[in-house]
Amino acid sequence: MSFSIPYGRQSINAEDVQAVVEVLTSDYLTQGPKIKEFEEAFAIYVGATYAVAVSNGTAALHLANLCLNLKKGQKVLTTPITFAATANTVLYCGAEIDFVDIDPNTYLIDLNKLENKLAAAKPNTYVGVIPVDFTGLPVNTEKLSTIADKYNLWIIEDACHAPGGYFINSDEKKISCGSNKYTDLTCFSLHPVKHIAAGEGGIITTNNKEHYKKLLRLRTHGITKDGIQPSEGGWRYEIEELGFNYRLPDINAALGLSQLQRANVNLQKRHQIAQKYDASFKNISGIKIQHQPKNFNNAYHLYVIKVENRKKLYNYLRTKGIYAQVHYIPVPQLGYYQKLGFTINDYPIAKNYYAHCLSIPMYPSLSIKEQEFVIKYIIEFVTENV
Ligand SMILES: Cc1ncc(COP(=O)(O)O)c(C=O)c1O
Repeated sequence: MSFSIPYGRQSINAEDVQAVVEVLTSDYLTQGPKIKEFEEAFAIYVGATYAVAVSNGTAALHLANLCLNLKKGQKVLTTPITFAATANTVLYCGAEIDFVDIDPNTYLIDLNKLENKLAAAKPNTYVGVIPVDFTGLPVNTEKLSTIADKYNLWIIEDACHAPGGYFINSDEKKISCGSNKYTDLTCFSLHPVKHIAAGEGGIITTNNKEHYKKLLRLRTHGITKDGIQPSEGGWRYEIEELGFNYRLPDINAALGLSQLQRANVNLQKRHQIAQKYDASFKNISGIKIQHQPKNFNNAYHLYVIKVENRKKLYNYLRTKGIYAQVHYIPVPQLGYYQKLGFTINDYPIAKNYYAHCLSIPMYPSLSIKEQEFVIKYIIEFVTENV
């Protein structure tokens, strides 16, 4: 076959194109009506009260940290297996980051190790934790919140991989990623390989009105018109806190809104693809698949396998036109973080994970034929390279 199959890809249809064209010919390219429409629809989709759209997922994390007053001298915990943005945005605030190793089967932050680390630390060493719903598998925020309460930590959920993900809690209730039942704020990315592609984009959800209002201010330089009388002049505004220009253009919001209409259909397709991979690989001894805990519904941004000879498989698949990817180089292993004093040897499970992991094609438009092609070559390679 002469096609190329990436690990992830956006799916744009005629309605998406139409939605963008309509904005292009309207009065607003940015800060127009599509922003609010998208925010309201997204908040409903994840079951939150408020949503604030921003320019990308990194901006969402940065503003979420600032919203909770993160500052110099404070320390936050996260997982080593995430995109660097999760940790970088803590550093943007002048604060410090620290890591807790992952669970060997789910690849999510290990909550037992987190609790042990907190118990061993001096009281009030850490102010917050940023769990990451890696691959789209939700972190057990119900359990995490009991730990966070005990140690007085806030929680910002990095759900960039997980719109549509959920778990069933101990009361048999569905807890959607972004609903903030157990968390303060949740951040999503609208990057093209993610579930809802807005070009670039991000969105933060919260149920707290004060946080919502603060996020709106921080998104636009800290500007507010609160408390200003009309008699002072229609142009008057105030800045009491330092914000940024992290606005999402209306063009991108229109695309996100249009994509949101198909979010559930696309999520179903991701599930079908995952089921087929699971069934194909479960009896292949050289392939380890991610454990999916009972009552947890993965949104499957990624489908990760662990194999011996990962690099060889990665290169072999490329010769067949299959462009797998590695998620992620552990953050403590990146040069900048090494200079801060981190070493990957402190996170042996993440180190082992990184040595073997490979993200294989997972996106709604992946055809059955293409998936079978991918499966065939992975199994062929693994069987010949044991
Ligand atoms: C887990 C995670 N957090 C944060 C981000 C940052 O999102 P963005 O690329 O939209 O800035 C990403 C994007 O890949 C991500 O995967």
